[in-house]
Amino acid sequence: RLDPIEIESVVRSIRDSRVVVAKVRRVNGVDPNRLWLPSRYASRVRRVEVSDLLRTVIPPPKVPVRVGEGVVIDATSVEGSVTLIVGRKESGKSHLAKVLSSELARAGCNVVVLDVNGEYVSLGRRRNGEPSHVSDLMTVLAPGVNFPVPLASLSDEVLADVMTYALGLPQTSLRELLRLVRDLRRRRALTFQNLMRAVQSVPMNESVRDAVANRLLTLESTGIFTDSDQEELEVDLTSLFPPDRGALVVFDMSRLGSIQRRVFVEFLLSRMKELLFNDEIDPIVLFAEEAHLYLRETYWEDVITRMRHIGISTVLITNQPDSIPALIYRQADNVFMFNIRNGSDIEHLARNLEIDPETLRSILPNLPPGNVLAWGKAVGRLPITFRVIDPGTMTLGTTRTKLGRLLRQA
Ligand SMILES: Nc1ncnc2c1ncn2[C@@H]1O[C@H](COP(=O)(O)OP(=O)(O)OP(=O)(O)O)[C@@H](O)[C@H]1O
Ligand SMILES: [Mg+2]
Repeated sequence: RLDPIEIESVVRSIRDSRVVVAKVRRVNGVDPNRLWLPSRYASRVRRVEVSDLLRTVIPPPKVPVRVGEGVVIDATSVEGSVTLIVGRKESGKSHLAKVLSSELARAGCNVVVLDVNGEYVSLGRRRNGEPSHVSDLMTVLAPGVNFPVPLASLSDEVLADVMTYALGLPQTSLRELLRLVRDLRRRRALTFQNLMRAVQSVPMNESVRDAVANRLLTLESTGIFTDSDQEELEVDLTSLFPPDRGALVVFDMSRLGSIQRRVFVEFLLSRMKELLFNDEIDPIVLFAEEAHLYLRETYWEDVITRMRHIGISTVLITNQPDSIPALIYRQADNVFMFNIRNGSDIEHLARNLEIDPETLRSILPNLPPGNVLAWGKAVGRLPITFRVIDPGTMTLGTTRTKLGRLLRQA
């Protein structure tokens, strides 16, 4: 008997059953207002490949991006959207984020990655050591190492954002600080040393002086900002995002401590906001791993809602689904879910997403590593599972262990 896709047994058990409970997710080509049931005798049950299914539920992709075997999504459904990638440890989240970020850059997007573990660095190389398909588009910058930001280059707004949100400087103290900064900038003498000297000598309220001096010391100690006004050292953010091609800019934050990380991310977001606002760069897709580690709670709303309008769309990646506030789930256009066994995490997703809970409960705990349950704009709002492709770039995602190295060498 001809049964090329091996559904004979499924069909037989359906024929044998008296009652089949199924979930009708979508009915194509039938008026939804009419009561309709498929014919019991004339209907055929047939398994549809994900690729065929996608063809019938989403329009042909304008900018096709292949994410799985036969699974092609439209880059335009990710750029300008909010995308979440969740799942437990080692389930394949970063792997998908790497596929998406490099494919979006190849399609022409400006991609920025906040790389907490220094693992995206590997995207530039194939496993055999040769340059990968994105190596030409890729720049890796390590704050405090090869990405010096001259203190004097910070605008009042950016400095104020960093001082207020990353270092918690109160507004009255901030006003004093900005007054001194402007004065030194006018005299082309804005350095940490001069600024500190000014803070110590200008008459001001003692507690304000303490607050300002304290934050300045912290800011200087992060090593992210430099006194030098040598312009050749400065990496110009605008030049990283040429208007005629895509770019993949990875900020390797693996060497940064938690305060440094917060300061740097605050600086970067504020600066990108400024550049976007002045039309100096094209819109950005921001990939943020475990963003709860460095973004203050209220910033989420800012990045997701307000920043979206000025041109920062986000892809958030986390193994703690409950670290993402409900408000963000409600705005999510795409959600990629990997294996989750923890019941309360599944319930958290079920409560906050427009997907039926049974689907999440039955599929998520059983997904093998590298397999994903996708839902949202990119997949026509149908829950679809597939295995994420392996582009063959080098992997640095795995936890480093000494035994691992010894075994590899043996
Ligand atoms: N679709 C895939 N094809 C081939 N290898 C994969 C695939 N998905 C994941 N892997 C491999 O599995 C390992 C774990 O994947 P990954 O680093 O993406 O997990 P993760 O969910 O980000 O984990 P963590 O929460 O610890 O960061 C990696 O070595 C990765 O290369
Ligand atoms: Mg990861």
